[in-house]
Amino acid sequence: MTFRSEITGVGSFVPSKIVTNFDLEKLLDTSDEWIQQRTGIVQRHWVDDATSNSDLGLIASLNAIKNAGIDKKDIDMIIYATLSPDHDFPGTGCYLQAKLELPEISVLDIRQQCTGFIYALSIADKFILSGSHKNILVVGSEVHSKGLDKTPNGRNVSVLFGDGAGAVVVSRKELNDPQIDSRIIATQLFADGAHAKELWIPAPGSAVGKDRMNHQMIEEGLHYPQMNGKAVFVHATKRMAECLVSVCRETDTSLADIDLFLFHQANLRINSKVAEMLSIPEEKIFNTIQNYGNTTAATIPLGMDDAIKAGVLKKGMLVASAAFGSGFTWASAIFRY
Ligand code: ACO
Repeated sequence: MTFRSEITGVGSFVPSKIVTNFDLEKLLDTSDEWIQQRTGIVQRHWVDDATSNSDLGLIASLNAIKNAGIDKKDIDMIIYATLSPDHDFPGTGCYLQAKLELPEISVLDIRQQCTGFIYALSIADKFILSGSHKNILVVGSEVHSKGLDKTPNGRNVSVLFGDGAGAVVVSRKELNDPQIDSRIIATQLFADGAHAKELWIPAPGSAVGKDRMNHQMIEEGLHYPQMNGKAVFVHATKRMAECLVSVCRETDTSLADIDLFLFHQANLRINSKVAEMLSIPEEKIFNTIQNYGNTTAATIPLGMDDAIKAGVLKKGMLVASAAFGSGFTWASAIFRY
C-alpha cells in the first residue's frame, strides 16, 4: 500500500504575558522605533518563572490533537524541535510524553534551531511514508525569555526573541483517497556548519574548557546567545530564496501556483527581501513576527495555526514554507493543506 502524509491537526499556545518594545526600552537601552524599523517586531510573549518549554508544548500539542479529531492515544511518536529545552538532557520530548501520559511511544528531539520545525516535519513525513507510524506529533516550542541577556549588553539579540509553541499532527492516509489530496509533497533540508559560530551559545558545552560551565563563563556572558546579525541577514535571504526555488523545481511547481507562503519569522526585512528576490506578492506571505518576535522552532506551526484561525489558510491550499537558522541550517517544504 502507498501512503501520503497529511497535516490533520494544528495547534499553538503563547503565554499570556505580553512584553512590548516600550517595556524593553526600560531594560535594554533600545527604542520601539529601532526595533520596529529593523525587525518589524512590536511585541513578544514571555513565560512566568514557573512555566517550562514542555508546558507550552503540552498545550499546543493538546490543541493540535483536538483539531486532528483523534484521541491522544492514537499518537505513536513525538518529534520535538527546540533550542531552549527544559534541561540539557533528556530531551524535552520525554517530558512532553510524560505530561501527555503516553508511555512507551517513541520520542525524538532534534536541534536545528529556527529550521527545526521543517526538519521535524520532514522526518515525520519519512516515518509516515515508510508505513511504520500512523500519527506523529511534531512540536516546535521555545522559552527564550529565560536565556536572554536583559541588560544593554544583550540588546542586539534580546529584542528579537519571544516564547511560544506550535504543534501539528501528521497522519498516515492512503494515497489514492479520491476525496482529498492534502499531503506533504516535498521537503528539502540543508546545513553548513562552517558558520556555526555566527549564531550560537558558547556555554554550557564540552568544547569550552575544563568545565561545561563555571563562574568565569557566566561572568563573560558565554551562556547568552551571540549573533553576527549582518552575516545572518545575508545568508538567510540567499538560502531561503534558493531552497524555495529548489523545492519548487523538484515538485514541478511554479512559485505563482503557491497559495500561501509560511516563512520563518526572524525578521520582517528578511522576508521582504526574499519576496523581492523571487517576485512573491507580499500579501501571499503570512507574517506573525509583529506579535511574537522570533520563536525559532515554534514559528512556523504557530503561524500556521494563526493563519487557519484568521481564515487565511484553508483546506486544499498549496503552501510553501522556508526557514533559516543557526547552524547554519535551512530548509523548505511544499504541502497541500
Ligand atoms: N536597540 C538600539 N540600538 C541597537 C540595538 C537595539 N536593540 N541593537 C544594536 N543597536 C545599535 C548597535 O549598537 C549599532 O550602534 P552603532 O552604530 O553606534 O555601533 C547600531 O544599532 C547598528 O547595529 P547593527 O548590528 O549594525 O544593526 P543592523 O542594522 O545590522 O541591524 C539586525 C541588526 C536587525 C539584527 C540585523 O543585523 C538583522 O536583521 N540581521 C538578521 C538577523 C536576524 O534577524 N536574526 C534573528 C535571529 S536568527 C534567525 O532566526 C535566522
